[in-house]
Amino acid sequence: MRIIAFYSPKGGVGKTAAAVNIAYLASRDQVATLLWDLDPQGAAGFYLAGAQPVKGRKLSRLLEGKAPIARFVHDDVYPGLDVIPSHPSFRNFDIRLNQDEEGSHSLKKLLAPLSEETSLVVLDCPPTLSRLTEQVLELADRVYVPLVPTWLSLNSWKQLQAFVKSQKLPAKKLRPYFSLVDRRKKLHRELTESSDPGIERLLDVAIPYASVVEQMGEQGQPLEVLAPNTPAAESFRRLWQRIREDLW
Ligand SMILES: Nc1ncnc2c1ncn2[C@@H]1O[C@H](COP(=O)(O)OP(=O)(O)OP(=O)(O)O)[C@@H](O)[C@H]1O
Ligand SMILES: [Mg+2]
Repeated sequence: MRIIAFYSPKGGVGKTAAAVNIAYLASRDQVATLLWDLDPQGAAGFYLAGAQPVKGRKLSRLLEGKAPIARFVHDDVYPGLDVIPSHPSFRNFDIRLNQDEEGSHSLKKLLAPLSEETSLVVLDCPPTLSRLTEQVLELADRVYVPLVPTWLSLNSWKQLQAFVKSQKLPAKKLRPYFSLVDRRKKLHRELTESSDPGIERLLDVAIPYASVVEQMGEQGQPLEVLAPNTPAAESFRRLWQRIREDLW
């Protein structure tokens, strides 16, 4: 079982859109995939109409070790794509992780029972620097970091690198890529076309700013279902290809 995360300390940079599209593309390539929306305000469910939290299934019980993870998984939202939708109780995830000195409810332990039936776990993370983030950075094989080509966003990339360094986490697994690229903007063009924008391990994939991505939320479908013949869909296919080459 391989684990990847979409993460940035900056909000609204396209983490969730990418996590949903990549999880869908992986499942379509016969990779048994689980998408876990770790954001308590989760948006992944908006992008996948079939993955709303089921009433009565309290995720707090999972975090307390009182219920097995399998009970929270929506099987086959699409063939080969399982989803753990977000839940407001995930806001307590950090408190739990801090209390849990033996790590018995760590993300790693929670995921372990699913390892036989799952080839790829895609974690959609909230934009926070927290204990949960630390665990994700420790656990994931690769962490994909969307960067909007602006100074503010590049600054948050530096902030993330400093955090990783200060926590002695492996920086090598970080994979930044440009997201929400608007070619009408000079700075976006300059940074994405630069032969050396000074960003280590930058992937050669740029996700364009495209209104069709926003429509994913309205339609509750991944881009590959909604609008496969668009440049944005093509850029996500390319991103999936890079991820696949990188993992196996
Ligand atoms: N490539 C894109 N082109 C245009 N709009 C996009 C694109 N990617 C995402 N969006 C839109 O931008 C907003 C934020 O996207 P998304 O939820 O994926 O970001 P996020 O990084 O997960 O945000 P948060 O930090 O709040 O979790 C959404 O309204 C989404 O529809
Ligand atoms: Mg998000």
